[in-house]
Amino acid sequence: MTTLEAAPVPADLLQAAREAWANAYAPYSSFQVGAALRTKDGTVHAGANVENGSFGLSRCAEQSAVQAMATSGERVIIEVVVFTEASPPASPCGACRQVLSEFGKDARVWLVNSQAEVIETSVRELLPLGFDFGESAG
Ligand code: THU
Repeated sequence: MTTLEAAPVPADLLQAAREAWANAYAPYSSFQVGAALRTKDGTVHAGANVENGSFGLSRCAEQSAVQAMATSGERVIIEVVVFTEASPPASPCGACRQVLSEFGKDARVWLVNSQAEVIETSVRELLPLGFDFGESAG
């Protein structure tokens, strides 16, 4: 683990992740998550966790960001910031790793918290040997 001062966390992605975090809807867990990603085309998409009274319908922040990206027609993730208040910084759940892997196996991932702690990793490191449908997927 390192710190924000020492790590080259992309400032615009961090800001977008923080803004999404502030909008998280987490009345059941009180655990807010914000995620922001940059695509190959250079655009930034953000997402927050959105919980539901029917708990199983809750949506993770990373998946919200990926949905926004894919809806805009983009398909390649270059880097991701996930922002929480957890220490150490929270790491994406297994489902989110698989969803990120669909569009960004080589993406860098920065896990950051409100105490300026940073873990730098990658989708490949988070999900070795993830499921891949293969070249036929459109
Ligand atoms: N959550 C995320 O947004 N991303 C993850 O990778 C793991 C967990 C959310 C889901 C739920 O709203 C809250 O954090 C507690 O699990």
